[in-house]
Amino acid sequence: MAGNTDKWAYLDEAMVASSRKTIKELFAEDPARAEKFSIDAAGWHFDYSKNRVDRATMKALVQLAEASGLKDEIERMFTGEKINRTENRAVLHTALRNCDPKAKVLVDGKDVMPDVRAVLEKMGDFAEKVRSGAHRGFTGKRIKYVVNIGIGGSDLGPVMANIALTPYSKRGMKFFFVSNVDSTHLAETLRQVKPAETLFLVASKTFTTQETMSNANAAKAWLVDSIPSVNPNDVVAKHFVALSTAAKEVSEFGVSLDNMFPFWDWVGGRYSLPSAIGLSLMIAIGRRNFAKLLRGYWKMDRHFRTAKFDRNMPVVMALLGILYSNGYGAETYCCLPYDQYLSRFPAYLQQMDMESNGKGVDRAGKPVDRETGPIVWGEPGTNGQHSFYQLIHQGTHLIPCDFIGFCQTHNPIGDLHDKLMANLFAQTEALAFGKTAEECRAEGVPEDLVPFKTFEGNRPTNTLLADKLTPESLGALVALYEHKVFTQGVIFNVYSFDQWGVQLGKVLAKGVLADLVANKPEMRHDSSTNALIARYRRAVGR
Ligand code: F6P
Repeated sequence: MAGNTDKWAYLDEAMVASSRKTIKELFAEDPARAEKFSIDAAGWHFDYSKNRVDRATMKALVQLAEASGLKDEIERMFTGEKINRTENRAVLHTALRNCDPKAKVLVDGKDVMPDVRAVLEKMGDFAEKVRSGAHRGFTGKRIKYVVNIGIGGSDLGPVMANIALTPYSKRGMKFFFVSNVDSTHLAETLRQVKPAETLFLVASKTFTTQETMSNANAAKAWLVDSIPSVNPNDVVAKHFVALSTAAKEVSEFGVSLDNMFPFWDWVGGRYSLPSAIGLSLMIAIGRRNFAKLLRGYWKMDRHFRTAKFDRNMPVVMALLGILYSNGYGAETYCCLPYDQYLSRFPAYLQQMDMESNGKGVDRAGKPVDRETGPIVWGEPGTNGQHSFYQLIHQGTHLIPCDFIGFCQTHNPIGDLHDKLMANLFAQTEALAFGKTAEECRAEGVPEDLVPFKTFEGNRPTNTLLADKLTPESLGALVALYEHKVFTQGVIFNVYSFDQWGVQLGKVLAKGVLADLVANKPEMRHDSSTNALIARYRRAVGR
């Protein structure tokens, strides 16, 4: 069986096997199920036994992956082929964390690894100078505040990882992330920092993004205004660095190339945390811990590249997602980290997954005939339990969930961690096994309340467990999801590394902005947009 259309017959086969028994029945017939349906890799234990799958389901799903040419696609990505065809680019975020000192990765015949290593060295030297006080501000004061200005992939990864690795962070320094073009974001940040002690990192792959450049220009004006000097460029030189692929734009902005940390067009924004975009994180946790983060990524990369599909954590995770989205019609999946430090992980995942696979045409440019990327959402547990879990347990939507937890906490206080983890494990148990009407009656639930207190169960969950949230386990976790998303993109047959869908709104906003500030009566939008613009103009007196 081959070809793009035929391959979906494997999903039909998987569905037949999957629908035969409930999760409860599957556990009842096989006491060793948890062991059989789990995978260990790169410090993570992945228990997928509480899914609607048996051996036959998994066999058919793996055949779906094989028939999609996944093996070859993985090699194409790792070896620098230009698999991002609509932008004619290689996709090599894996080269950024390739820790093999002898590795060579060729793009257009040139080995990219020497440049990767050189930038990491430059970042490390600079990060340590900032941390030690060797790099100081214009007036000679130590840098105490670091403000990363960036958006999308130039923000979400650094924010997520900065929060996640707080225990490894230099506590005497404070890190801020300004992304929104809403001036409140910058204003509230500047209220909390002192100009002479602040380093701004302007993070933008293109160095043309409206939000980032507007905020960076405003921050530069604020800094130059606040620190008197004969030559403002000398102030900027001490307080601004650029993280970008665009040398010309960086120079035009006024940052010298010595203060630029480059990366390359083969690093997608949403995959750029291990590149120069991670400089804020490196300053926070130091070059050694950053190297450990890269090592974690690399371990998962190697697992993904070499493990057989039925023992391959990202592949199995991707296949389960496709079973629910395209087999059972689930439109979303929920990411539930049981760790406060991972509070921004769901938001990070949203861009990674939805910007990658939120596509409506296949690689031939034809409308897809299957569901592609799912809607991703989530909140840290246990907070979600007291809010939206009701719907997951008893609502009409099927919502597969990823539960993420750690055996050890960085902050042991009494039995709080045991309670946290007890909740995680209990939720997966409740979702899988539910509670029957008979069980309710046996507990003495009055007959008229039985329907309300019954839990259907059979709700699928994955559990991801690691010893501790460390730079290494975080790197591996991010790589796990990256490769899951990659695998799904291959099976959906979409291009996962472009994002044309964000362009139209950006272009229209430029035209709308011209109309907002102009004082011309004629506007060429639809009647709703025209009226809204007119109302705004009246309100602000234009
Ligand atoms: O608008 C979407 C996007 O292009 C993302 O893909 C990217 O991460 C973000 O904008 C920021 O882009 P840049 O790093 O070029 O400023």
